[in-house]
Amino acid sequence: MDIIESLEWRYATKKFDNNAFIEDEKIERISKAFNLTATSYGLQPIKMIIVKNKSIQKKMKAASFHQEQVATASHVLVLCAEKNVDADFIKAFSNNSKQLRPEAHSEIDAYGDVLIDRFKLKSKADIKLWATKQVYLALGNLLTVCAIEKIDSCPMEGFIPAEIDVILGLEQEQLSAVLLLPIGYRAKNDVSAKINKVRRPLNDIVKIIP
Ligand SMILES: Cc1cc2nc3c(=O)[nH]c(=O)nc-3n(C[C@H](O)[C@H](O)[C@H](O)COP(=O)(O)O)c2cc1C
Repeated sequence: MDIIESLEWRYATKKFDNNAFIEDEKIERISKAFNLTATSYGLQPIKMIIVKNKSIQKKMKAASFHQEQVATASHVLVLCAEKNVDADFIKAFSNNSKQLRPEAHSEIDAYGDVLIDRFKLKSKADIKLWATKQVYLALGNLLTVCAIEKIDSCPMEGFIPAEIDVILGLEQEQLSAVLLLPIGYRAKNDVSAKINKVRRPLNDIVKIIP
C-alpha cells in the first residue's frame, strides 16, 4: 500500500475488536520502531511500557475519562518520559555509545562532557519539557509505523498522568506517563472508521516559497 493510502486508512480508533490481539512479531517491530525514533542529542529520554492485561486496562480506562479504547485495545502503549536526565544518565548514554562505536571513544567522552555541562544549566522544568517533546516524536513515528503495519491505534492525551503513574508503578522507575497509544484491530461497528477525515486544504497548510 502507498504511504498516503496507509495514512488515509489510519484514524483515531475509538472502538477496538476486544477479542483481536496483535501478534508478538508485530509488537516486536513496533518496539524496534520506537527505539529507532530520532531524539534530541540522541539521548532517548523516553521509555515505552506495553500493557497487555485487560484488568489493568480497565483501571487505566477509569484514569482516562472512561475512554473505551483503552479497555478494548489489544495492547496499550504507555509512552513515558525519563525523569532523571542527569550526569549519570548521560554517562550511561556515553558508555553505550562507546560499546557501539569503539573507534570513537575520545569524541564520545568529549560529547558527554559537553552534554553534562549543558544539562546542568537547565531547570528541572526545562528538562521535563524537552523530554516530553521527545515522547511526542516517538508518538508520530509509531502512528505512521502502525498505519504501515495495518495496526489500528488511538493517540491519547486524555488521561490523568499521575493516576496512570500509580497504576503502573512508574514513579519507582523514574518515569512519567506522557501519552497513551492503545493499539489493536478496529471493531466492525466503530463509526469513526466511516467518517471523512477533516484536514485543512493542502494549499492552506503548506506554503511553497519558490
Ligand atoms: C497528541 C494527541 C492526543 C489525542 N488525544 C486523544 C484522546 O485523548 N482521545 C481521543 O479519542 N482522541 C485523541 N486524539 C485523536 C485526535 O482527536 C485525532 O487524531 C484527530 O481528530 C484527527 O483524526 P484522525 O487521527 O482520525 O485522522 C489525540 C490525538 C493526538 C495527536
